[in-house]
Amino acid sequence: MGSIAKELKDTTVQPLQRADELEDLIDAVKSLIIPYVRSADEAASVKTTGQVSKDAQGRSQNTLVDVQKPAELIGKLKLSLPEGEGKGKTGLLATIQDVLKYSVNTWDQGFLDKLYASWRGIRAFTVHVYQVSPVLTLIEKTTARQLANLFGFTGPRAGGVSCQGGSASNLTSIAIARNALYPECKRSGNAAKRFVLFTSAHGHYSVEKAAVTCGMGADAVVPVPVDAATGCMDPLALRAAILRVLDDEDGEGRTPLYVNATAGTTVLGSFDDFRALSAVCREFGVWLHIDGSWGGPCVFSAAQRHKLAGSELADSITVNPHKMMNVPVTCSFLLTNDLSVFHRANTLPAGYLFHGAGDDGEVYDLADLTLQCGRRADSLKLALAWIYYGAAGFEKMIDHAFAMAARLAGAIDVADDFKLVSANPPPCLQVCFYYAPGGRLAESKEENTRRTREMVGLLIARGFMVDYAPGPQGSFFRVVVNCQTLEGTVEGLVKALGEVGKEVVKA
Ligand SMILES: Cc1ncc(COP(=O)(O)O)c(C=O)c1O
Repeated sequence: MGSIAKELKDTTVQPLQRADELEDLIDAVKSLIIPYVRSADEAASVKTTGQVSKDAQGRSQNTLVDVQKPAELIGKLKLSLPEGEGKGKTGLLATIQDVLKYSVNTWDQGFLDKLYASWRGIRAFTVHVYQVSPVLTLIEKTTARQLANLFGFTGPRAGGVSCQGGSASNLTSIAIARNALYPECKRSGNAAKRFVLFTSAHGHYSVEKAAVTCGMGADAVVPVPVDAATGCMDPLALRAAILRVLDDEDGEGRTPLYVNATAGTTVLGSFDDFRALSAVCREFGVWLHIDGSWGGPCVFSAAQRHKLAGSELADSITVNPHKMMNVPVTCSFLLTNDLSVFHRANTLPAGYLFHGAGDDGEVYDLADLTLQCGRRADSLKLALAWIYYGAAGFEKMIDHAFAMAARLAGAIDVADDFKLVSANPPPCLQVCFYYAPGGRLAESKEENTRRTREMVGLLIARGFMVDYAPGPQGSFFRVVVNCQTLEGTVEGLVKALGEVGKEVVKA
């Protein structure tokens, strides 16, 4: 694992060296990419001949592409995402070298295929159809499959697609659920069905946004009550809500379509009971989606993965490596046990683009599985991080972050002037609490909110940025630690909180 994790072990003494690590990697990657672009520049003059150039031995030098069928390319790439320790810089550079070697070099003058060319960017890092993005297609398929396997999706067509963020993955899951369960809607739209979507009262607003986008309307989303102590969706309340729709109490002939469960809610970090929710969904033939945008990566941690028990029973799962795993934004996957369902749900005829499945019956034109056409190759970010850190490195990062959350929650719990809202230890990486001098909250919600907001403002002047969220007794603090948070930072935050508290509530 890279130096970041090593330093996290001894958090207060060792100086961080992330800048040096980053500079070294950027220099190394630059030394691969610049010659790649230069080769296309140098080949430009040869294009006038209508031929590719030859090397000293008379062999053709095609800078545009080294054409490979999927099966051949899979053999050559030997892409492996380490289940244990990462391969560090050597593994990272070898993979980038392969990506460049087998990608279509869109800097080449001969690239006259799609509606773009390269200019001031590495256009090779776009996924589209197989012909123009062979390596990245295979990287997306391999990475999504290996990730899907971790959630218990182990069927022959298990896998996923990358989408441009958790909201987009959730939106895609709703469109797929509708088209898979009610295929006629692809032609006739939603109107006849009056679909209903169910989500935790603590679920992310992206489900409502998606309902609006899909033409179902925000009112089609029914919030399901959560257990007051745990923040988990109540399966009995879900069943009752579905029955109310089926009993047609309002006489509007609505159709229960989809349940959005959450692995790591946005405010409290709660994990729903997926087994119990799945039983309800199966009883009524409703699609079960898990929004694991935030908590999904717990699957890499032996200590945390029990929170995802039953994930294999879901029809689709969103997971965002760009949150807990520190992979650059955007990097989000929508996973499933059967990618052919995604394909049937999203495919539309476009003969000018899609030229059929591979010899093995697999779909390699991934655009046909998504709501987009060309996409950024976000899966490459996860693949490179996975190769660099290994699954063992991800596990260490995640365990470290949970240890920091527990440490902060513990410190707040024992402090006289704070009242913890989160469980101790918290279910995820958010630590939520009120300022309560002498162990007492203010009488009014407004006063608690004032205290929280003012303290949050004062913390910024001390170099700490934290957030707050509305709660039953006014707004409370919501601090989100991450895999790079040092113990000393937690200690400094607790100290600063105590001091700014005395500024907003004078003794
Ligand atoms: C539970 C949950 N789902 C979805 C999202 C949206 O993810 P994105 O910002 O990648 O669209 C978030 C963002 O915080 C989230 O917490």
